[in-house]
Amino acid sequence: VTDEVVYLDHAATSPVRPEVVEAYAEALGHTGNASSLHAAGRAARRVVEEAREQVAELLGARPSEVVLTSGGTEADNLAVKGIFWARRAQDPEHRRIAVSSVEHHAVLDPAFWMAEHAGAEMSLLGVDGDGRLDVAAAREELDAHGSRTALVSVMWANNEVGTVQPLDDVVAAAHRHWVPVHSDAVQAVGVLDVDFGASRLDAMTVTAHKLGGPVGVGALLARRELGIVPLTHGGGQERGIRSGTVDAAGAHAFAVALGLAVQEREETAARLAVLRDTLVAGVLARVPGAHLRGPVPGIPESAREARLPGNAHFTFEGCEGDSLLFLLDSAGVCASTGSACQAGVPQPSHVLVAMGVDEVDARGALRFSLGPTSQEADVARLLQVLPGIVSRARDAGLSSTPARRAAG
Ligand SMILES: Cc1ncc(COP(=O)(O)O)c(C=O)c1O
Repeated sequence: VTDEVVYLDHAATSPVRPEVVEAYAEALGHTGNASSLHAAGRAARRVVEEAREQVAELLGARPSEVVLTSGGTEADNLAVKGIFWARRAQDPEHRRIAVSSVEHHAVLDPAFWMAEHAGAEMSLLGVDGDGRLDVAAAREELDAHGSRTALVSVMWANNEVGTVQPLDDVVAAAHRHWVPVHSDAVQAVGVLDVDFGASRLDAMTVTAHKLGGPVGVGALLARRELGIVPLTHGGGQERGIRSGTVDAAGAHAFAVALGLAVQEREETAARLAVLRDTLVAGVLARVPGAHLRGPVPGIPESAREARLPGNAHFTFEGCEGDSLLFLLDSAGVCASTGSACQAGVPQPSHVLVAMGVDEVDARGALRFSLGPTSQEADVARLLQVLPGIVSRARDAGLSSTPARRAAG
């Protein structure tokens, strides 16, 4: 039974769609550097510019606002560091970087790095027990320090617990003080209505491999008037913000994947929400000591869902997430703990800690993320194996917890 893998880790990466594989392979067959002036170069340039136009149109942006990158991590780094340096150059007082405490490491780490190496001052914006930004506290922060703030970065939706953030409120609070706002929309695109223009964001990160495209291509959408100091210097491609030969085939594959994801978005989101609800209800009913983390599905925050439709996240009392992951893997189920390992020692997720989850409880975290290829049979298989796996992990977890505590 276990030779069929049940893939419940779409938030880590989603299968490349067959249509995209075909389009990508076809594009890879053409030679040409988009910066070359000869016919082959001009053909590659056309492919890039068409992809740029499509990406822009699908995300409510202008083509000139699309800066192609190698993916989400690069786009996040470019936003945090590049905007900080540009704002600081305008006014040396602009030293503060305000980011939510539940950001992906691709935002958090560059911000901390800037604090350590580039004279930035960090401000971590708190969240509530569901991982939702504390808007009142963010407003207070900006009212007190807006004139010294270089940028604000708050993700569109969280990759671990799926919480959708109140971006309208963040943008309004920051813009009152003329502070630009960046948002990492990596997990939102393809399942939520992401419109860069309508969002009034100043910059936004997207990546192809979470929506059926290849790994290694993405974009930072950035308003033309927003200053960004480049992190890479060289051929001056991408408005001089991101030097390096543009990946024409990757850009094409990205545009094709995004087109399909956006076209099918509403249907996919509705289907995934139903599957996710079955998964959540099943886990809570069958596994003692399971706690859902993040917003309760189906309870809207204002007019929209407060949680990504394909996300389910739990902590299991008395378990180590790593043991659960390993046992699930042996049973042919791919999931994620959502948190990183440092020097071989599992660390409690910074997201759960920011939500106020006890550090020991946070160690029993497991995320299941659904995507376009997910089916009822995947959820059924998970629900069949999980109760036994949790009780085995619990036996192992209880004996190893004191040792880990002593180590950390
Ligand atoms: C919210 C978020 N931001 C950024 C990234 C990094 O994107 P990439 O893998 O394209 O560098 C990820 C993927 O893990 C993510 O989930």
